[in-house]
Amino acid sequence: MRAIYPGSFDPITNGHIDIIIRASKLFDELRIAVGGNILKNSVFSIDERVELIEASLRSQDVDISKIIVEKFDSLLIDYAKKVNADVIIRGLRAVSDYEYELQMALANKEMNENIETIFLVSSGKYSYLSSSLVKEIAYFEGDLDNFVPDVVKKNLRNKFQ
Ligand code: PNS
Repeated sequence: MRAIYPGSFDPITNGHIDIIIRASKLFDELRIAVGGNILKNSVFSIDERVELIEASLRSQDVDISKIIVEKFDSLLIDYAKKVNADVIIRGLRAVSDYEYELQMALANKEMNENIETIFLVSSGKYSYLSSSLVKEIAYFEGDLDNFVPDVVKKNLRNKFQ
C-alpha cells in the first residue's frame, strides 16, 4: 500500500519525524508531500522545506528506502490520485486537532471515496509540539534542542537573525 504524509512542514519537527518513522514501517511506500496551506504565511520556501526534510531524515539515520519527499501544488486529493496513493496519513496530537482533521478527512473522502485518511496518534512526548511553537521559540532565541534536528535549528537561526 502507498501512503502520503502531507503537511506544511514549516519546518519539520521531531514530532513529524516520529510519525514518518512509524508510518514508513506500515506501508510499502511513504510519500512526504509538502504543500502550501493558503491560510498560513510560511517562513521557509517550499523548496527549502523539502530540503530540510531530506537533510533531517539523513541526519537521524532514518531508513529512507521507502520514503519519497516531494512538493505538491494542488488539492491534496488530486495529488493523492496522481501518485496512486491508497492512504493519507495525518498525525493527531490533542483533541484540539480533531475538528480540523475531521473536516479535512471528510472533505477529502467526499471528493474521492477510494482514498482513506488514517490518523497516527502522536507519541506522548511530542503531543504538544508544532512548527508554530518551534518558530516562536526560534524567534526569541530559545533552546530548540529537543524539538527539531540540528539542521533545522541552524536554518531557523539564520532566518531569524
Ligand atoms: O501541516 P498542515 O498545515 O496542517 O497541512 C495542511 C495541508 C497542507 C495538508 C492542507 O492544507 C492541504 O491539504 N492543502 C492542499 C490544498 C487542499 O487540498 N485543501 C483542502 C483540504 S480538505
